[in-house]
Amino acid sequence: MRTLPRPLPKDPLPLLEQWLAAVAASGQLRNPNTMALATADAQGRPAVRMVLLKHLSVAAGFAVFYTHYGSRKGRELDANARAAGALYWEELGVQVRLEGPVVRSPEAESDAYFATRPRGSRINALVSQQSSPLEDFDAFLRTMRETVEELGAEPTEASPEAGGPAIGRPAYWGGYRLWLEGVELWLEGIDRCHERVRYERTLTRDDAWTFCGGAWRSQRLQP
Ligand SMILES: Cc1cc2nc3c(=O)[nH]c(=O)nc-3n(C[C@H](O)[C@H](O)[C@H](O)COP(=O)(O)O)c2cc1C
Repeated sequence: MRTLPRPLPKDPLPLLEQWLAAVAASGQLRNPNTMALATADAQGRPAVRMVLLKHLSVAAGFAVFYTHYGSRKGRELDANARAAGALYWEELGVQVRLEGPVVRSPEAESDAYFATRPRGSRINALVSQQSSPLEDFDAFLRTMRETVEELGAEPTEASPEAGGPAIGRPAYWGGYRLWLEGVELWLEGIDRCHERVRYERTLTRDDAWTFCGGAWRSQRLQP
């Protein structure tokens, strides 16, 4: 059975980084960075969906995911700029909960990440207004196919001549930083003797993208 180091780490994030790396290295999961992300609208009504946690800044203390700013989650974050995330790795018997305020990533960071995405995903970001109503899925697929034909598909070994003009990031698509002010580490135990530690710290706003985090405080919780 896995247990947390004793004494408890002062900062939970290096451990989270290690776990993310260990699950990725195990090769057992297609997306080891899958995170359930909860947001709430202005009335406090919650909604949850999966996203990919694409970057963890251990030094500053934020987690980054990417999406369409006009999607339901984007609109909810406009109204209520806080979110909660949960990751679970069955093979490690580990659950991690993340909470805090959310801000959009700096544009240059979103540009840099967008440029690394497969061409088809970049084209999809041009074609799909995520979470807007869609009358005709076949028509959407046709538009997608036509746009791929117009802009060029990803070059492959079979068709290395594919590709085409650079596809820039649309302004409505980009990253969010979930600044971590609450983190819970949960390790599965025998007879449900799960080991739980909740970490909290105070965040003070520095600028549009940045918070300054105080020292982490930790508290064990009953299973
Ligand atoms: C494993 C998995 C990973 C996903 N990753 C993302 C992601 O990183 N960004 C994203 O916008 N949607 C992602 N999605 C789709 C979302 O779950 C969701 O359908 C979409 O973002 C629209 O959500 P919304 O209407 O609440 O904004 C993912 C779905 C799954 C199942």
